[in-house]
Amino acid sequence: MMRERLEALKAEAEQAIQGAKDLETLKQLRVKYLGKKGELTAVLRGMGELSAEERPVIGKLANDIRQTLERILDEKETALEKAAMEARLKEETIDVTLPGVPRPLGSIHPLTAVIQQVENIFIGMGFEVAEGPEVEKDWYNFEALNMPKDHPARDMQDSFYITREILLRTQTSPVQVRTLQAKEGKVPVRMICPGKVYRRDDDDATHSHQFTQIEGLVVDRGVSMSELKGTLLAFAKQMFGEDHEFRFRPSYFPFTEPSMEMDMSCMICGGEGCRICKETGWIEILGAGMVHPNVLEKSGYNAERYTGFAFGMGVERIAMIKYGIDDIRHFYTNDLRVLRQFQSV
Ligand code: PHE
Repeated sequence: MMRERLEALKAEAEQAIQGAKDLETLKQLRVKYLGKKGELTAVLRGMGELSAEERPVIGKLANDIRQTLERILDEKETALEKAAMEARLKEETIDVTLPGVPRPLGSIHPLTAVIQQVENIFIGMGFEVAEGPEVEKDWYNFEALNMPKDHPARDMQDSFYITREILLRTQTSPVQVRTLQAKEGKVPVRMICPGKVYRRDDDDATHSHQFTQIEGLVVDRGVSMSELKGTLLAFAKQMFGEDHEFRFRPSYFPFTEPSMEMDMSCMICGGEGCRICKETGWIEILGAGMVHPNVLEKSGYNAERYTGFAFGMGVERIAMIKYGIDDIRHFYTNDLRVLRQFQSV
């Protein structure tokens, strides 16, 4: 009786184990047949009723069956684990030969590119990069720059006023005064300052109510006009290349004396005269001059002891010349067909 029950249990268990499809089922079968409350244990509980001769025989059989079941459970477990691992590996395979997904790449805006180029050239000559506020006091934007309230030169820079004393700066030149004040009379001062400026102009191909300037300022003992010219020539040659001609031409700014403008031979016609240079053969690139004594004094510097030079250039203008852009509005309309051309700048 007992023997038949054990053999039947073994056969049933073996079949169930071989048929198990996953590790979870196998775990349940182990509990079902070999666990403390399992079927083999239940059968063995009836051993007490056996005779003394039968007991060791049945006991041995039961033990053999337990061992056999344990072995095939372990074997099945190993096989299922291996199959599960293989399935996972197959599922997670990465085909390293597949082409990558192209990611769209942005580009540096041409104005930013020009600012960085100009900064690098002047940093190479020992200048520091400064910044100043776009919402500025009338005093810094005009008054301290030798342009009192009734000065006619204010008309050249039609302004956006916020209050009577506060406006959107019309130029980066107020940063000259702010820099000198911050330096508290110390020398040498060598700074450049890029930034946005605002003027009440009607927008067209060459005018914008908001544009960008870069200011430069050097103050020290004995700074001379020849150093101004040498510095600007060194800059212009690095910026535009060696094969251009440059000239300095007298001009007027209230905050420099003497004042001048720097021209470059027209890159379109090479100096012959064309529509772009208005038949002059020359293109204006910046304004400059020796810092007016009144500006030094108003900024806390003794004009008897120190001299300096300053210059200012329009970033859009430089970028238009350098990259042959014919309309200032291209810088602000963010047409990707334009911007993509500056991917490698
Ligand atoms: N601020 C002047 C302008 O906007 C340019 C300039 C700067 C001229 C510094 C001389 C010195 O026109």
